[in-house]
Amino acid sequence: MKRNPDKHNRDSVHDYTWAVHGGNNIDKGTGALRTPLIMANSYLLPEDPSDMDWSSVDDGLVYNRTSGANSVALETKLAAMEGAEAAAAFATGVAALHGIFFSLLKVGDHVVVSNVTYEAVYRLFGELLPEKYGIEVTFVDVADLEAVQAAVRPNTKLIHAETIANPTTKVANVGALSRIAKDAGVLFSIDATFTPAPFYRALDDGADLVVHSLTKYINGHGDAMGGVVAGRRELIQHIKHEAVVEVGGVISPFNAWMIMRGSVTLPLRLKQHFSSAEKVAAVLESDPRVAYVLYPGLASHPQHETAAKQFGGRGYGGVLAFAVEGDSDTQNRFVNNLQVITSAVSLGHDESLIVHVGPDARGGSENYPASFHKYGHMRLSIGLEDAEDLVDDILNALDKTLGEK
Ligand SMILES: Cc1ncc(COP(=O)(O)O)c(C=O)c1O
Repeated sequence: MKRNPDKHNRDSVHDYTWAVHGGNNIDKGTGALRTPLIMANSYLLPEDPSDMDWSSVDDGLVYNRTSGANSVALETKLAAMEGAEAAAAFATGVAALHGIFFSLLKVGDHVVVSNVTYEAVYRLFGELLPEKYGIEVTFVDVADLEAVQAAVRPNTKLIHAETIANPTTKVANVGALSRIAKDAGVLFSIDATFTPAPFYRALDDGADLVVHSLTKYINGHGDAMGGVVAGRRELIQHIKHEAVVEVGGVISPFNAWMIMRGSVTLPLRLKQHFSSAEKVAAVLESDPRVAYVLYPGLASHPQHETAAKQFGGRGYGGVLAFAVEGDSDTQNRFVNNLQVITSAVSLGHDESLIVHVGPDARGGSENYPASFHKYGHMRLSIGLEDAEDLVDDILNALDKTLGEK
């Protein structure tokens, strides 16, 4: 039967259509189909501004630190993509994470945090927030739901985890964690940088807030940094007011415009990233010169079943962690023998990136799997190159480093 697709209604169109049209506005001034890049700090005030609420983030366009045309356009688009009432854009992913913690927590509050997160989050909760602001923290294994439940205290305000954790690839069961948070009357925030919408919508599974580093897949071209938090309007307004307007971690109009542009092709790119990652993971796992590989799409991954259910078989992300047989020098030689994959930090870019991290180099690494401690780990972010070229690159580098099979 013929449907009646409406590009302004998420429920009536498919994901690729929604990625193109969701949250796009015709520019009122020019009729342009996209919001133009507007590099202005200030906007014309109304004839009588005397009754304006200067602290409001929703009182029209006033000043870039409260509401600029390009950040508002990006927020509208990302809220539409996530199925959220509202979104707040930040200068970086870390600024967005800090924005949640800073605005929702105060002295004496307690937080339950995954014991494997992006290292900046671990440092915020392991050092800065407890030492400077008296915030209490329990780090838990979020795959152990009883441990999460047991960690909740009367003064707990927030549970925080990553859908797929950087760099261990541990998968959080968002629905189950949301239920624990709801029953306890606390908020649940999830960093979904590894699994953006429309691949996965954490808010649909009950998360209160979803946060992304836009620097990664959502921009996707490795040339602009940003962050976003999406969720219920009243929560986002509070976060925006305290963490954007008062603290000032605002995204530049240019970066907002770049990320808006990148986000339109996100579903297509994710498909390629994720299907190539599955192929590369299978090759690595079957090679005896590889010491271990962690990728949620492999049946050997500890949370493979959770990932299969949660992501509905659409894929398992584009990042894998592994090491080759040998010491730290051997890992370095392997990386230096790669010709297509580039040795650099970050992930979710158009090009494949690999970073070798030694056994105990990072904050929070005590909670990493034993294999990480034995060999160190390489974090490989699969890019948009042909999967065959990536596989050949890896096999050639293995031959050069460890000899032919
Ligand atoms: C899961 C996750 N969250 C947040 C960040 C921080 O993002 P940004 O570099 O944009 O501050 C990263 C960066 O690697 C990340 O992997």
